[in-house]
Amino acid sequence: MKINTKRLNPEVKGDITLAADILNKGGIVALPTETVYGLAASAFNSEAVKKVFIAKGRPQDNPLIVHISDTKMLSMVTKDVPEVAFDLAKEFWPGPLTMVLPKSDKICQEVSCGLDTVGIRCPDNACAKAVIESGGLPLAAPSANASGSPSPTSADHVLNDLDGKIDAVFMGDTCEVGVESTVITLCTTPPCVLRPGAVTLEQLREFLPDIVVDKAVLEGAKKGEKVASPGMKYRHYAPKAKLVLVEGDSAAFCEYANKNATAAVCFSEDKEQLTVKSVVYGSNKKQETLAHSLFSVLRELDEMGIESAVVHAPTKDGVGLAVYNRLIRACEYNVVSLGENQ
Ligand code: TXA
Ligand code: MG
Repeated sequence: MKINTKRLNPEVKGDITLAADILNKGGIVALPTETVYGLAASAFNSEAVKKVFIAKGRPQDNPLIVHISDTKMLSMVTKDVPEVAFDLAKEFWPGPLTMVLPKSDKICQEVSCGLDTVGIRCPDNACAKAVIESGGLPLAAPSANASGSPSPTSADHVLNDLDGKIDAVFMGDTCEVGVESTVITLCTTPPCVLRPGAVTLEQLREFLPDIVVDKAVLEGAKKGEKVASPGMKYRHYAPKAKLVLVEGDSAAFCEYANKNATAAVCFSEDKEQLTVKSVVYGSNKKQETLAHSLFSVLRELDEMGIESAVVHAPTKDGVGLAVYNRLIRACEYNVVSLGENQ
């Protein structure tokens, strides 16, 4: 059934209280965060959370992240929180870090998909924060895209995927970071990065010197294999265009693209050497620019009617690890290596 999706203004106070009211009554609302847009429901309301899974077409065993507006709300949603979680919260919240912690019984089963843990984050976005505060409720919110497609970094992306399927959407700005939060679990020894993001491994090591990176981050999970973070096993972030990820320096990438491809998703540094149609997704010298534009460029490829393209892979350090992780999924693990990138 198609519903009338209300367009809300993040600057209007009445729209914030309206969204909080919809959420308190069991509705679902898309809102901006600094990473990507989220599709929110009350984390305490099973029926509302079920609606999120249906609107997205999300597999039933992929748990949702719960959003809070303040570290003080941690006790509503978790229990037995290790001391280091408070240190990490102090350093990185509000911001793009999700911590998997033992879950409180109040969090409904639909959020955690039967796990006894829950991923928690405090978003750095005035609208998201105001809606959580106004409703007084933690919000379960996955990315507000149709499951499998690139995550939404603008309200238009949300509407492309979910118009008519959700109660409301905030018509906010483009998301600053552009890739989803770093997910770490503090429920294993050693702690582990389940999904890389803008809070980097290098930054986390200062607090968690023994932290490891789950092997699914760079390899992807095999069919049927049990994974620490269920989201890792699904086809993800993929536009309709068939993509091949190419590792190598600028000269090697451009030579390969000019010989073998009809289109290229490239760094600004590559552009001049390319004779095929090209779309720049940022600068190799500023990995944040690659993260910021990645998902909108993947969506653009489809709008441009591009059927296949090669993509220049970033290095796997800093925020580059997050971009690389999303790209191997978008490329369905088709990777060509032409040597070291730099
Ligand atoms: O930046 C973000 O994190 C965005 C915004 C909206 O906050 N949200 C987001 O949610 O990316 P979603 O549902 O698209 O991704 C959540 C990821 C999935 O890979 C899921 O498997 C993992 O977090 N996850 C959630 N709860 C978990 C848990 N208890 N244990 C392990 N992994 C968990
Ligand atoms: Mg997602």
